[in-house]
Amino acid sequence: MMADESKRETFRRALREIKNLPTLPGIVVKLSQMAEDPDTTTEQMGRVISKDHILAAKLLKLVNSSFYGFPQRISSLNTAIILLGFNVIKSLIISASIFEVMEDQDVELWEHSLGCALISNVLAKRLGLKDPEEISTAGLIHDIGKVAIKMELPREYEQIRQLVRERRISTIDAEREVLGLDHAEAGGWLTRSWNLPDKLAEPVACHHDPRLAKEHQLAAAIIHFSNIMIRGLGYGHGEDTWVPPLSQRAWRLLEFSPQDIDQVLEEVEEKLWDVKGFTLDVKSQLEAGTS
Ligand SMILES: [Fe+2]
Ligand SMILES: [Fe+2]
Repeated sequence: MMADESKRETFRRALREIKNLPTLPGIVVKLSQMAEDPDTTTEQMGRVISKDHILAAKLLKLVNSSFYGFPQRISSLNTAIILLGFNVIKSLIISASIFEVMEDQDVELWEHSLGCALISNVLAKRLGLKDPEEISTAGLIHDIGKVAIKMELPREYEQIRQLVRERRISTIDAEREVLGLDHAEAGGWLTRSWNLPDKLAEPVACHHDPRLAKEHQLAAAIIHFSNIMIRGLGYGHGEDTWVPPLSQRAWRLLEFSPQDIDQVLEEVEEKLWDVKGFTLDVKSQLEAGTS
C-alpha cells in the first residue's frame, strides 16, 4: 500500500510538471476570458483567433465536420462566431488546440476520440441536453490522459503496452499496475491544471467509472457509454481490444431503449465516414512531412 502511494505521488508529480504538452493556456485562456466578457465583440474574438492560422483553419474544419453536427456549411470565422456563439467557439478552440497535440501523437487514438465525440453529440441531442457541443468536447478529450502518459512517461508507457500484449489485460488495468493510477485520473488532473471547466474535467476523470462523478453525472454517463460504443464499433486503439464494462448506474441514468440504440447506431454509422476522412487526411499530412 505504502509503496503504491509513493509511486502514485511520483507519477502524479511527473504529470503535473508536463512540459511537452500543448501550449493550451495562452490563446485558450484569453479566449475563455473574452467569452465571459459581455463587452467582447465578434470582430475582437475573430481577430484573436485568426492570429493563429493553423488554429483558425482547424476550427473551421471542426465546425464543418459532423462531430458537432451543425446543419449549414460555415466558411468564415466571423460567421462561425455569430452563428455558434462564444461558448461553442470556446469548446471548439479547446478541442482544436488539444488535437494539435494528439494528432501528431497517435492517429488511432485520435480516430477513437473523434468517434467518441460524434457519438456523445448524438446522445446528448437525443437526451435534449442544452449544450451538446460541450459534451462532444468532453468526448473528444476523454483519453487525453493517455497522451500525457505517453509523452511524459515513455518508459512506463512501453511497460504498459508490453503488459497488455503479454498478459492480455486491458490498458487501464496495466496502467494501474505500472503507475498506480490510470489515464482517466491523469486526464482529470490535466484538464483541471489547464483550468478547463469542471463540466469537461469531471467526465474525463470519470469516463471509466461514472459512479465517481459528483456534479456532472449525466455528462460522465454519456462519455462512458460513447467510449464503449465506439470501441464496440471497432474504433479502438493500441494493442488492447477489450470493450470496457458498462456501468449499470450510467445505463440507468441514460434510460435508452434498444430502439434508441438502433437509431443512434444508424445515425452514427453514416457520420463515421467523416471520421475516416479526417484521419486519412492527417495520415497523409504526416507521411508527406516525413518523406
Ligand atoms: Fe479511456
Ligand atoms: Fe477511450
